[in-house]
Formats: sequence, structure tokens, C-alpha cells
Amino acid sequence: MSAIALEPAVMLRGPRLDDAETLFSLVDASRATLRQWLPWVDGTVGVDDSRRFLAGVVDGARDGSACATWLIEVDGGMAGCIDIHGISRLNRSGYLGYWLADAHVGKGVMRRAVAQALDIGFGELELNRLCIDAAVDNVRSCRVAERLGFRREGVLREYLRLHGRYHDACQYSMLAREWTPRR
Ligand SMILES: CC(C)(COP(=O)(O)OP(=O)(O)OC[C@H]1O[C@@H](n2cnc3c(N)ncnc32)[C@H](O)[C@@H]1OP(=O)(O)O)[C@@H](O)C(=O)NCCC(=O)NCCS
Repeated sequence: MSAIALEPAVMLRGPRLDDAETLFSLVDASRATLRQWLPWVDGTVGVDDSRRFLAGVVDGARDGSACATWLIEVDGGMAGCIDIHGISRLNRSGYLGYWLADAHVGKGVMRRAVAQALDIGFGELELNRLCIDAAVDNVRSCRVAERLGFRREGVLREYLRLHGRYHDACQYSMLAREWTPRR
């Protein structure tokens, strides 16, 4: 009998303060990969840093600040994080940010997670425009945006500064009227 490749079950859920230990262990185990593209990784050195991050996120969720954050679960276990930050209520726009632990990369997980974040962003958050800004060299991240049908708007010159080096970034956008939920 031939093997059947099952798709991972990807779910977003709101974070809790008691997620700190698992969250930190994910970041710690994938530090070398994540730090290439995410400036906060080197400053995350212990569980207290993840606890502080979660406290901000939980407070932000309560006071309706300009950022919405979810943990990504794959087959019931924590696998990474996704957010919509820089939310402008005036313009009804925001930016997607995301990361996955190494063990979950390469299985199409982020495409599914971003699709769910778009459903929420264009649904209950009533946004009109969502962007992904990814370094041009961050092939996987650019591909996530392209596969979901984001439009590449252009290249933002030296937009990201990572470890003392500037990187050009692709800006991708999706408008509410263009998004067809496609989980
Ligand atoms: C970016 C990230 C979230 C993507 O995670 P993922 O869902 O596992 O992505 P995948 O590995 O499934 O790859 C996405 C696509 O890139 C393609 N890809 C991967 N490596 C590639 C390479 N070297 N060249 C070309 N395409 C490549 C995959 O084939 C896939 O395309 P497909 O869907 O058409 O098959 C993950 O790699 C990550 O967390 N990176 C570190 C943090 C980060 O960069 N965050 C984003 C900042 S903008």
C-alpha cells in the first residue's frame, strides 16, 4: 500500500502567559535560523524574555492596541508565531509578521497560517490591506506571499537592518476584495 502524505493541521490561537516556557524553548532551539531575519532573537535569552513578550501581547489584546498576535499550533503542538502589527485603524491596514521553529519548516505550514490570519484580518478586524515585507534574500518568506496570491508592489531599498547590514525588502500586499479564503 502506498503511503499517504497527510497535511499538517494548522491552527492559530491566542497566547497565554503560561506559554512562555514552550515559546522560549522553540525560539532557543531555532535561534540560528530565526536570527538571520528577526532582530529580536538575540535579545531573547531566557524564559523571562518570552514572558515579557507574552505579557505585552496579552495586554495588547485586552486594550485593543495596534497589534494582534497568535501562536501557531501544528497537530496540537506549538510551532511558531504570527502577528498583524502596525495596524492603522484610519487606513484599515496592517503588516504580517511570522516565524516557525525549524522542525516545522518546509511543510507549507506558514502558507496555511497566513491564510487564517488573512481571514481574521479581513474578517473580524475589518482591515482592507495587509502587507508582508520580506528581505529579498528570504526566499521562503517571499514564496509564502507569492503562493497566497499577494501582489509584489516593489522593492524597498535598504529597508531592513539586520546584524549591522542593510537588506532590500520586497513589499507584498493583499486587499480585502482580492482575498478568497482558501484554507
Ligand atoms: C519564512 C518561514 C515562515 C516559511 O516557513 P514554511 O511555511 O515552512 O515555508 P516552506 O518551507 O513551506 O517554504 C515556502 C515556499 O518556499 C519554497 N522554498 C523553500 N526554500 C527555497 C529555496 N531555497 N529556493 C526556492 N524556493 C524555496 C518552498 O518550496 C515553498 O514553496 P511552495 O509552497 O511553492 O512549495 C520560515 O522559513 C521561517 O520561520 N523563517 C525564519 C523567520 C522568517 O524569516 N520570518 C519571516 C520574516 S519576513
